[in-house]
Amino acid sequence: MSEASQEGAPSKAHDVAPALSELKTPCALVDAEIVERNTSRMAETASRLGVALRPHLKTHKCIEVGRLQVRGHFGGVTVSTLAEARFFADHGFRDITWAFPLPPGQLDEVFGLADRVDQFQVLLDHEVTRARVEEETARRGRPLSVLLKVDCGYHRAGVDPRDPESLALAQRIVATPGIDFRGVLTHAGHSYDARTPDEIRIVSRQERDEVVAFARRLRQAGIEVPTVSLGSTPTLCVPAEHLEGVTEVRPGNYAFFDLFQVAVGACRREDVAFSVLATVVGHYPEQRKLLINAGALALSKDLGASHVFPDGGFGRVVSVDGGTEYPDWKITSLSQEHGQVIVPKADALSAFPVGSPLRILPNHSCLTAALFDVYHVVRGNEIIDAWRPIRCW
Ligand SMILES: Cc1ncc(COP(=O)(O)O)c(C=O)c1O
Repeated sequence: MSEASQEGAPSKAHDVAPALSELKTPCALVDAEIVERNTSRMAETASRLGVALRPHLKTHKCIEVGRLQVRGHFGGVTVSTLAEARFFADHGFRDITWAFPLPPGQLDEVFGLADRVDQFQVLLDHEVTRARVEEETARRGRPLSVLLKVDCGYHRAGVDPRDPESLALAQRIVATPGIDFRGVLTHAGHSYDARTPDEIRIVSRQERDEVVAFARRLRQAGIEVPTVSLGSTPTLCVPAEHLEGVTEVRPGNYAFFDLFQVAVGACRREDVAFSVLATVVGHYPEQRKLLINAGALALSKDLGASHVFPDGGFGRVVSVDGGTEYPDWKITSLSQEHGQVIVPKADALSAFPVGSPLRILPNHSCLTAALFDVYHVVRGNEIIDAWRPIRCW
């Protein structure tokens, strides 16, 4: 018997398909049709712009979505951890870029991975790491494929493309006998500071212009730059008019999207493929409050696009079938396992009796998805599969 029927039947609008109602909550739902649509659209965008798509797999970290993301393209992928790299290498992905500054202490594993796939590329943006790679490649008698990370304005990592020392580092990398220099890579994470598609497009052009200009400077200095790589979900959803000079793009979040992407105008609400199924565990009418069993360990404490919606809360409540939204309901507080939802009027609580399920759209699907060991894959309200992501590092 479902939790809903034990505690009182939900109203007709919130009827639950039996399979969904049997799921233990909180749990993660992925809408297969939306993921297929999102991944096809991005593959078309990359083709239209004349660039290779090397999708980032960090949002979902599961094989099934990775396979959808590479459809129609050359099969290369981007990962954020060595655990992802091992997992995807184990499942037939042959060309992997680890798009994270190389920790010198992890070179053993990096060489192990490089042995198992056709191409495994790592990032450098520092002389100390270059020198360690020089020592290790010489000691092992084996080369390593390296990209130079460039800062196009996000200021998280990467060399300043206007600093002469960045060219000098590139020259030292190229001169390092054990390094196969593959090119330059940048990520416009500051596209997430945008408020509108127009603001995203300004960052998209900046991301392109900075990395292409740097590649040109290297070439003028006699350095071959086969790869010029950029990408984030906002800058590929609202791309620059052209990507001349760019060879590949690496968006990732678009497979699932989330409320952040909706808020900045990178996608529509109906493109959000990931949600959390939770159960109402308490009613507090005097506080106009529902309590749900999805706390910080089911939703993450990411406040999402708070620069656009300062009072957006920790996600958005929708009905189990996803068809009804409750924009005035606010998830105001999360503790480890408790989520508190404030509703505009106490009588609104009757829509979700204690024991009934509801869905939450996440602010940031990368962080929320990472909290679950399995994704229940749905088509409409029917559960059609279970996808198991890789976790940890
Ligand atoms: C280096 C790098 N490349 C690409 C991406 C993908 O960007 P997004 O998550 O916006 O799709 C990320 C995301 O963090 C990243 O760090």
